[in-house]
Amino acid sequence: MTEPRKLHIKSYGCQMNVYDAQRMVDTLTPEGFVETSSAEDADLVILNTCHIREKASEKVYSELGRLRETKEDAARNGREMSIVVAGCVAQAEGGEIVKRERAVDIVVGPQSYHHLPQLLKRAKAEGRAIETEFPAEDKFASLPQPKPAAIRARGVSSFVTAQEGCDKFCTFCVVPYTRGMEVSRPVARIVDDVMRLADNGVREITLIGQNVNAFHGDDENGKPSSLGALLHRLAEIPGILRLRYSTSHPRDVDDALIDAHRDIPAVMPLVHLPVQSGSDRILEAMNRKHTSADYRQTIDRFRKAREDIAFSSDFIVGFPSETEDDFSATLALVEQIGYAGAYSFKYSPRPGTPAADMQETVTTRVMDKRLARLQDLIDSQQAAFNAAAVGKIVDVLFERNARNPGQIVGRTAYLQPAHVIAPADIIGSVLPVSVESLDRYSLIGTLAIPHAGTPHSFAMTPGA
Ligand code: 5AD
Ligand code: SF4
Repeated sequence: MTEPRKLHIKSYGCQMNVYDAQRMVDTLTPEGFVETSSAEDADLVILNTCHIREKASEKVYSELGRLRETKEDAARNGREMSIVVAGCVAQAEGGEIVKRERAVDIVVGPQSYHHLPQLLKRAKAEGRAIETEFPAEDKFASLPQPKPAAIRARGVSSFVTAQEGCDKFCTFCVVPYTRGMEVSRPVARIVDDVMRLADNGVREITLIGQNVNAFHGDDENGKPSSLGALLHRLAEIPGILRLRYSTSHPRDVDDALIDAHRDIPAVMPLVHLPVQSGSDRILEAMNRKHTSADYRQTIDRFRKAREDIAFSSDFIVGFPSETEDDFSATLALVEQIGYAGAYSFKYSPRPGTPAADMQETVTTRVMDKRLARLQDLIDSQQAAFNAAAVGKIVDVLFERNARNPGQIVGRTAYLQPAHVIAPADIIGSVLPVSVESLDRYSLIGTLAIPHAGTPHSFAMTPGA
């Protein structure tokens, strides 16, 4: 028997990259690879890269510099190490990467991971292999399985791709160029994935996609399905207790999605709905195709459907021409909505995007200041949101043993981590927790109903 080869993957960026990294592992396992947590003893290192902001892609080149030294050390010890650059930097820069960093053996774009075994062979024969083509047509329908490879269950919660790509062309964003046009997976494929995951112990599904609520995959009758209809279908699958989806565009929120929050208890009351700015002038320059009033109305529609619904968002500060007044409009919007959490970023011009040709008007110093003010406001909203859970009874889906022995950690409907002392067999169940205190972002509590030793909130009913 040959020794298994060791594979180390480092993922940057979004949830889809986390999911893609898992799929790469699942594609390479049959080739005799096992995962290792350190790059030093790996035979194959994959950097699954992110191109969304300059910092994210620069990190890749500094990591590659370090990996070159590791590779040279390995070679001195008679060991061969291959380096793969995958993800959106691979897609955007292609062959430029190998010019800039000679240690790279393979460059592979997000549409081609299922070819990794062949690319490894090609790189061995030819020294290098680069594949960053977009498939000509429907990237899901035209590709043989696995793309996406049937993803293996890893614990209680799993991502499943619903759609990929984006046609919105916000002027600052590289996604339409790196992930391509919006394509939805057929409902039947998603249902298959979710059924298999549920059979293997997964209780929570997060449907992912760069513009997930633009989902329009064909249903069983060949008709386009809405995300709301898909959520209805998935909620019927035995074992599935919680459904989430991310990331949504405010323009694509339809009534079916709003109604899903009202009608399906498994659909969690936390919506990630990026707005980017509170200024209509900036929203227009960003080509967001909605105003701040449209956004507020959308939030109200959600709130009418489910009053305990909470929101998170993304913001960019310092977009070209952003004035102090524009920035104040962003702060005012945040004040008005009240978020459970949000991400905020300094604008970073991305090559090839329309905004990269706009005159940058906001200095780094001003950007830093605006970012700090916005983050302070968001942090205080998040702290208040978490503090409001103390003294309440909240449902928690238990996921795994915590670091402290005897403690089990799970998540609330709002993704807050929650810790209790309890037997490990509660993992995979949703149980009510009486929240007693807050430890930074984590809720600390006790099971509200004494636990007899077997999960009681969900029992698998095979075939039922
Ligand atoms: N500069 C700064 N932030 C950006 N984002 C996307 N592109 C850029 C950019 N060029 C942010 C947006 C998006 C999130 C994923 O990253 O807020 O919603
Ligand atoms: Fe990028 Fe999101 Fe805009 Fe699409 S909707 S272009 S992914 S910011």
